Amino acid sequence: MTLRTARLVLRDMGEDDLPALRTILTDPVAMTAYEGPFAESECRAWLERNLQRYAEDGFGLWAVELADAPGEMIGQCGITRQRIDDDEVLEVGYLFRPAHWQRGYATEAAAASRDWTFRALDAPAVWAKVRDTNIASMNVAIRLGMTVRRRFVTRYRGVDMPHLGFAVDR
Ligand SMILES: CC(C)(COP(=O)(O)OP(=O)(O)OC[C@H]1O[C@@H](n2cnc3c(N)ncnc32)[C@H](O)[C@@H]1OP(=O)(O)O)[C@@H](O)C(=O)NCCC(=O)NCCS
Repeated sequence: MTLRTARLVLRDMGEDDLPALRTILTDPVAMTAYEGPFAESECRAWLERNLQRYAEDGFGLWAVELADAPGEMIGQCGITRQRIDDDEVLEVGYLFRPAHWQRGYATEAAAASRDWTFRALDAPAVWAKVRDTNIASMNVAIRLGMTVRRRFVTRYRGVDMPHLGFAVDR
């Protein structure tokens, strides 16, 4: 799977992307909303989970590269199946290296992922699960045309995390 935008390329990750993925997932700033950097085993599990998603669903989180500087993964963005309370939803996720924040890349990648979901999966809505402390992520969701539909608590890495469920309809 490859998606192109004006400035970005979104493509499937592979085993070779583990070092680049590790750079993102062990960054204490980028991982604030995930309760801190991942250990090596968590980085590997994250990659394996994504490869499994590609195989089972045909989509997942994709590697994001700059179109004019290919070869370096600057972030990840894509679509995953998620649960919110008792409902299964399609969620757009985005996680970028801090050096590439504040340039509109996350919104550009997430908008392409949202549009792909409506087009390819005929989905009625795309969601974003956002921790209630993650203002930058909320702003991406709002720029995607999303509004808050739900409030819920997710237990992750031993912590109860209040979340907002943002969504945009097709
Ligand atoms: C969430 C995250 C991707 C948001 O990054 P971001 O840089 O704020 O978002 P974008 O890439 O869309 O950039 C938008 C910002 O760039 C600015 N910008 C600068 N140049 C721009 C350009 N050419 N085009 C568009 N926006 C531009 C915008 O004004 C905006 O700034 P603002 O939010 O202060 O108004 C980032 O904070 C991150 O990776 N966090 C860690 C992972 C995470 O928490 N993910 C979400 C889990 S729910």
